[in-house]
Amino acid sequence: MDLLEKSAEAVAARWPDAKPVGGMILGSGWNGAVEACEVMDTMSYAEIPALGEPGVVGHAGRLARARCAAGELLVFQGRRHYYEGLGWTPIAAPVAILKHAGARMLLLTNAAGGIAEGFRPGDLMIVRDHINLMGANPLVGPHHPGWGPRFPDMTRVYGPRLRKALHAAAQAAGMSVLEGVYMAVSGPAYETPSEVHAYGRLGADAVGMSTVPEAMLAHAAGIEVAGLTCITNAAAGLGSGDLDHAEVTTVAQDAMSNIRALVAGFWRQALAKGEG
Ligand code: HPA
Repeated sequence: MDLLEKSAEAVAARWPDAKPVGGMILGSGWNGAVEACEVMDTMSYAEIPALGEPGVVGHAGRLARARCAAGELLVFQGRRHYYEGLGWTPIAAPVAILKHAGARMLLLTNAAGGIAEGFRPGDLMIVRDHINLMGANPLVGPHHPGWGPRFPDMTRVYGPRLRKALHAAAQAAGMSVLEGVYMAVSGPAYETPSEVHAYGRLGADAVGMSTVPEAMLAHAAGIEVAGLTCITNAAAGLGSGDLDHAEVTTVAQDAMSNIRALVAGFWRQALAKGEG
């Protein structure tokens, strides 16, 4: 058994009766979004072989079994990143666990720097599409049929049905949300102003260091994917000061009441329309 299978087995052994319809991966500062759901139980990432101890401040390192709207979810509070240098296995683990558990939908969340004009700290952006500028692809390696075909299509990674569910949830909560293109870079250094300028010209509305690998893997594996970004800062050179991680997590936490309403509404919409 490889580490991903062992991880899926560890979760299945802990909650043998769990039948999650979907999952969430909560990024920097997003931990509190789990409160959009009713948490039934939690397990530490330390108990999941491929995940291990959380590596980044602002990431709880806990998996919650939760009920949200009419469905059961697995909520990953904290993610592993490519810049940690541990390869793709820890990043792929939540997707492998969800797939093994039979989940059909995945909401990916993150913090990012705003590039597009008018994007302000605290704004929420629905991910319409992404640009992978990490310099690596999580599907490189021997072909594993669990991740779909050898050359998976990426025309519609963020499915229109779930994007509509996010828009409908925002409307129902009386919130305005943005929609845009998320650019993933490897990090861990933030960008230079010239890089940000270039990324904007390439079509990026926001830039961050995550999400794209999980989105690609889940989409390839046939899981419906949605992405939600909290713009936590103006990307380098577009704001007044220097960038730091404490600001990123604080801004995401300050946006939390909006985030919770949106997440709860999203699952209501996604589950109401998604069954059958
Ligand atoms: N750049 C990259 N990643 C980020 C940023 C940023 O400006 N803000 C939050 N995550």
